[in-house]
Amino acid sequence: MNMLDDMLPAVEPALKIPARPQDVNMYGDIFGGWLMSQVDLAGAMRAIERSRGRVATRAVSDFQFLRPVKVGDMVLAYADVEHVGRTSLSIGVHVYVERRTPPDFDAVVQKVAEARLVYVAMNSDGSARTVPPP
Ligand SMILES: CC(C)(COP(=O)(O)OP(=O)(O)OC[C@H]1O[C@@H](n2cnc3c(N)ncnc32)[C@H](O)[C@@H]1OP(=O)(O)O)[C@@H](O)C(=O)NCCC(=O)NCCS
Repeated sequence: MNMLDDMLPAVEPALKIPARPQDVNMYGDIFGGWLMSQVDLAGAMRAIERSRGRVATRAVSDFQFLRPVKVGDMVLAYADVEHVGRTSLSIGVHVYVERRTPPDFDAVVQKVAEARLVYVAMNSDGSARTVPPP
C-alpha cells in the first residue's frame, strides 16, 4: 500500500470514532497520544478476534504520523493480521480520516497514520497462550 494512499480500504474498519475538542493540543491539532490509543484499540480488537481471547500489547513499531488530525474528523482505523507466531500476532493498522468542511460537507479522505503492533495471546492468569488455528 502506498504510504499516502487516500482511498479507504474496501473492508469494514476495526474502529470508527470522531476526533473531539477534548482530544486537542494547544495548536488545535489532535494529540498524537490520542491517536496512538485508537490504533492500539483497533489492533487489539483484531487480535482478540483472531486469537479468540484475551491479548496484551507487547510491542509497537513503525508508528508514523503522516498528517495531522483535526477536530471533527471521522477517524477510521483498519487492522490486518500480518503474521501469527506461536503466542504472538503482528497487526498492521492503517488510519484514515474523513473530513467534511463547509460549504458542501463532501467527505475528503486522507491517510493520517500507520503502525505495526505485536499482541500476545493471554490466559486469564496473565501468562502467554498459543494462538489457535484460524
Ligand atoms: C505478554 C507477556 C505475558 C509475554 O511474556 P512472555 O511469555 O515472557 O513472552 P515474550 O514477551 O518474551 O514473547 C511472547 C511473544 O511475543 C514476541 N515478541 C516479544 N517482543 C517482541 C517484539 N519487540 N517484537 C515482536 N515480537 C515480540 C515473541 O517473539 C513471542 O512470540 P511467539 O510466541 O509468537 O514466538 C509479558 O511480556 C507481559 O506481560 N508484557 C506486558 C504486556 C502489557 O501489559 N501490555 C499493556 C501495556 S499498558
